[in-house]
Amino acid sequence: MKRNIVITGGAGFIGSHVVRLFVNRYPEYNIINLDKLTYAGNLANLKDVEDEPNYKFVKMDICDFEAFYQLMQDEKIDGIIHLAAESHVDRSIKDPFTFAKTNVMGTLSLLQAAKLYWESLPEKYEGKRFYHISTDEVYGALKMNHPEGIEPPFKTVASSEGHKAYGDEFFYETTKYNPHSPYSAAKASSDHFVRAYHDTYGMPTIVTNCSNNYGPYQFPEKLIPLFINNIRHRKPLPVYGKGENVRDWLYVEDHARAIDVIFHEVPQQFYLN
Ligand SMILES: NC(=O)c1ccc[n+]([C@@H]2O[C@H](COP(=O)([O-])OP(=O)(O)OC[C@H]3O[C@@H](n4cnc5c(N)ncnc54)[C@H](O)[C@@H]3O)[C@@H](O)[C@H]2O)c1
Repeated sequence: MKRNIVITGGAGFIGSHVVRLFVNRYPEYNIINLDKLTYAGNLANLKDVEDEPNYKFVKMDICDFEAFYQLMQDEKIDGIIHLAAESHVDRSIKDPFTFAKTNVMGTLSLLQAAKLYWESLPEKYEGKRFYHISTDEVYGALKMNHPEGIEPPFKTVASSEGHKAYGDEFFYETTKYNPHSPYSAAKASSDHFVRAYHDTYGMPTIVTNCSNNYGPYQFPEKLIPLFINNIRHRKPLPVYGKGENVRDWLYVEDHARAIDVIFHEVPQQFYLN
């Protein structure tokens, strides 16, 4: 089946892996990478697919409603995978306005353009999909009630052989939103708008709230590349608080594969962690 899909933020870390996977896996699709190319966007991430006939790059700000609405019509877009965002917590503390603008107003602009275009078609929302990539940071922090770590088997589900657990709570799709940084507050707000477009207009939406990603092409300000670079240059390693925070990590190519399966196979209005 032919599909016309926009992947926003495709020049960024996770987006570039999603674009590569879709371009290589679905030669019959028309894949449009829409990105403003902020400091975090780098088209060199996609050198290996830039000449593929099913790939196109469009430089655009997701806040530009008119331009995006025109693109929806010109390219007959039937799927949106939305990753474009300001994504670095430390920057959000210094510049919260940019985060609210891009993450909240940008997402709203995409939703509204998609709504107007899809509702103008005879088949309306049939076969359409708006997939919003969010973060588990909207849930806040889990309690670390086993600071020394406990060995498996655990009472809870999300454990794996050979790893210790430091708490016995997990985030679920039903966990209450509890954002703490301007970044997570803006992402939480964008999630609420996506939910509102489903509940109010019947738009087929999906939201996933994943944990930290790691892997190739990550911007060097993020924790793992920053630590590797600092170690190589014998610089100090900046750790928040007392260094007791525990993070969960997801390999970026596994995430891209999950996005592919979720985009194609899960029913609409789904929330997944
Ligand atoms: N990286 C992680 O560990 C992680 C974890 C959970 C969720 N997420 C979410 O996944 C998505 C992608 O994260 P990432 O780490 O790849 O981010 P990133 O910062 O590496 O890339 C973001 C991309 O969005 C583009 N962009 C920014 N503002 C834009 C605008 N106004 N218009 C168009 N493009 C714009 C940038 O140019 C860049 O290419 C984000 O929505 C983020 O909140 C990331």
